[in-house]
Amino acid sequence: MSYTMSNFWDVLAKNASPKETYYPDIGLVRRVKYALGFGDPEAGRKYREAAWITKQIAASFVACKINTPGDRSETPGLCCYVPAADYADPAYNFKVKLPSGVRAQRFNDAFLEDLRSRLGGFTPELTINEDGVFIRVPLERVPARPPKCTLADLGQPPDDYKLPLPLGRAQRAPYWVDLARAPHTLFAGASGSGKSTLIHACLHFLLDRADVWGVDLKLVELSRYKSQMVQLATEPEEVEPLLEALFRETRRRLAELQSRNQNDWQGRRIVLVVDELAEVTLASKGDTTLLLRLAQLGRAAGVHLLLATQRPSVQIIPGDMKANVPLRVCLALPTAIDSQVVLGKAGAELLTPPGDAYVLDGHRITRVSTPNYKAPEAAFDLTQAEDPRLLGLSADERAAYKAIQEEGCKATQRGLVERFHWGTRRAMRTLKSLRNSGVLEPAPADVGDDVDDISNDVADVDDLPPTDKVFMEPQIETPAAVGPLFTEKTGIFPKIPVFGFF
Ligand SMILES: Nc1ncnc2c1ncn2[C@@H]1O[C@H](COP(=O)(O)OP(=O)(O)OP(=O)(O)O)[C@@H](O)[C@H]1O
Ligand SMILES: [Mg+2]
Repeated sequence: MSYTMSNFWDVLAKNASPKETYYPDIGLVRRVKYALGFGDPEAGRKYREAAWITKQIAASFVACKINTPGDRSETPGLCCYVPAADYADPAYNFKVKLPSGVRAQRFNDAFLEDLRSRLGGFTPELTINEDGVFIRVPLERVPARPPKCTLADLGQPPDDYKLPLPLGRAQRAPYWVDLARAPHTLFAGASGSGKSTLIHACLHFLLDRADVWGVDLKLVELSRYKSQMVQLATEPEEVEPLLEALFRETRRRLAELQSRNQNDWQGRRIVLVVDELAEVTLASKGDTTLLLRLAQLGRAAGVHLLLATQRPSVQIIPGDMKANVPLRVCLALPTAIDSQVVLGKAGAELLTPPGDAYVLDGHRITRVSTPNYKAPEAAFDLTQAEDPRLLGLSADERAAYKAIQEEGCKATQRGLVERFHWGTRRAMRTLKSLRNSGVLEPAPADVGDDVDDISNDVADVDDLPPTDKVFMEPQIETPAAVGPLFTEKTGIFPKIPVFGFF
């Protein structure tokens, strides 16, 4: 008598012989009851799972016609070894007892494929050798891919998240994380796996919650946000100055925290978005110290990194860098080795791009479907700009103008220095170009206020780490040199809208 699915357990019960080790799994059922009776739910769960897998294997025997119907002796037997908690091989192991007349060759790829589809998340392995036929089913179940989603499906981020990242949909609910808590994140994935799309979705929430700095040497992804970013590096030679500027700001913030005797940055946070980390490593000639320092110091200073890469190799993310980036989103990767680098285990090579990902958060790995999101198209779309006068201005000018117009910041050099903690030259340059382009009113005749500040610059420079020398602008402009241009008498101040110039 052979088994069909409806009489499976009955037949097994009849087939089970107490002397034979190959009891196709009625013993398991007994052990489930036994384990549960002794209040060991974990063992019970494991035996129950083993029993379920046994049933699936038997179903595959039937489907692949490995058993010969009608004769009890020709039904393959199964012996199952359920791993104990401390068992070295975390897998269910089955030994198949072949009925006479059934050859091992019957256990082919078709059988394995059939079994895999029945086992859902488990990935069975088949070994045939002189000792017999063995089926190994690793204990760990691969979570199924959650349904695809769009950004709208994720709803609104939790209220208490300072820098919410919409990583996607997990099986039961939207998956949000707080970058402010993370404090840095890495998106790894092969070309076309959906990294940039995920970055866009994140920026959708980050741009108005934080000061965003960007590095995008491919020029295709982040340029559209240029107007909303503090700084954007699109050329290899801009990368290092940007990192240095950010490092300087980090140090300034840390010094401020120290002077206030605080541990955590309460002000506006900064997010550095890097679309291809490998290019940054290349641009800085393999020297990733600055980025590493940013990662180490950033947490307390409210400076967070959002890095993306196609090539998660050890050269691109060295071990000490990786240790500082505990939150990792692993989209589809080409090989199990890449997956090992990002997640600490294989698996990402089996994901189906685009949008299929594992999120590693601390020790927990969750499978998510990242949101499909169409990023805003043009960088200088008129309808997108808040104020047409801001078009074509640099990030500094834009920020200064906004501060002056909306926050009542004084339109003086000192005002800007105090508001943005810029060096005096930077403040002055910004102010000057805002006035030159007619966005701001001409300077008042009295610029005495500014002259004093120049001396502070020396102190600024001395405070910097040695690498900061790049920030000393070559030409020194003093208010005296530029002052006369701004007087009423010269009258060169055209009150033309800024459009005239761009
Ligand atoms: N979650 C998603 N759902 C559906 N389609 C997606 C999803 N994510 C990305 N895509 C689509 O996949 C394509 C590639 O995505 P994307 O540009 O983000 O890949 P990438 O990983 O940045 O690739 P590259 O490394 O080449 O820059 C795009 O056409 C995008 O629309
Ligand atoms: Mg991309």
